[in-house]
Amino acid sequence: MARKRVTTGIDGLDDILQGGLPENKSYLVAGEPGTGKSTFCMQFLLAGAARGENGAYITIDEKPAHLIEDAEALGWEIRPHIEAGRLSIFDVSAYFSRVRAGNNKNLNVNNIINELTRLVANTKATRLVIDPVAPLVADLASLSDVQEYIRSLIFSIEDNLKCTTLLTSPVAIGSNKLSQFGVEEFAVSGIILLRLVKQERDWVRTLFVRKMRSTATPLNEYAFQIVSRRGLVIRQPL
Ligand SMILES: Nc1ncnc2c1ncn2[C@@H]1O[C@H](COP(=O)(O)OP(=O)(O)O)[C@@H](O)[C@H]1O
Ligand SMILES: [Mg+2]
Repeated sequence: MARKRVTTGIDGLDDILQGGLPENKSYLVAGEPGTGKSTFCMQFLLAGAARGENGAYITIDEKPAHLIEDAEALGWEIRPHIEAGRLSIFDVSAYFSRVRAGNNKNLNVNNIINELTRLVANTKATRLVIDPVAPLVADLASLSDVQEYIRSLIFSIEDNLKCTTLLTSPVAIGSNKLSQFGVEEFAVSGIILLRLVKQERDWVRTLFVRKMRSTATPLNEYAFQIVSRRGLVIRQPL
């Protein structure tokens, strides 16, 4: 039977995805700074909260207060969802600083999954955001070790947390890599690439579904806008 689809909350994207993201899998939202990754993720969780699907936002670089501020600046009423427990924001920066200070020896898939499970367990979240995913990755000696580690991390998230998960991946400006380590993209079920593209004098925001398992997605790169109260809104293909 076809896997249930989870609405993204992004106008125009569910149609492109033939109904939404296949449930309980992990997806990479990749893009340079300022392309809209965090906004995309917050919109995904708010769409869930509005339909009674709880969400958890794990933030590593950004303070929860800033995420709330950004959401409110966009005209989203986020606090009622937080107060009702439909949206939880966890700052795990301190956890990772502690683990890394211990010379990385505790940065292993089991410990991270235990920490994530502990955070997510009480929230009854079925939607999860990890923004960004890179700090979860240990500095291992070889690329094949990193690849194996990420595979195991993503599969453990899928097996243990039973959430539809967005992992953000910052791309260095000007790079055509999809992720920091160049391997995060292999184990995920889909990749959504956000870009800022220069057209004549102006810049245009674009979204491209680079990969989506079991879905025939169009090969178009769509222009989108960030609109007050609506967030990301897909427009026409470039
Ligand atoms: N209220 C708003 N209206 C329109 N655009 C906004 C608004 N708030 C933020 N943005 C745009 O969204 C961008 C930030 O997106 P963000 O999701 O934080 O990017 P990323 O996480 O990829 O770095 C900002 O650079 C800004 O251009
Ligand atoms: Mg961000």
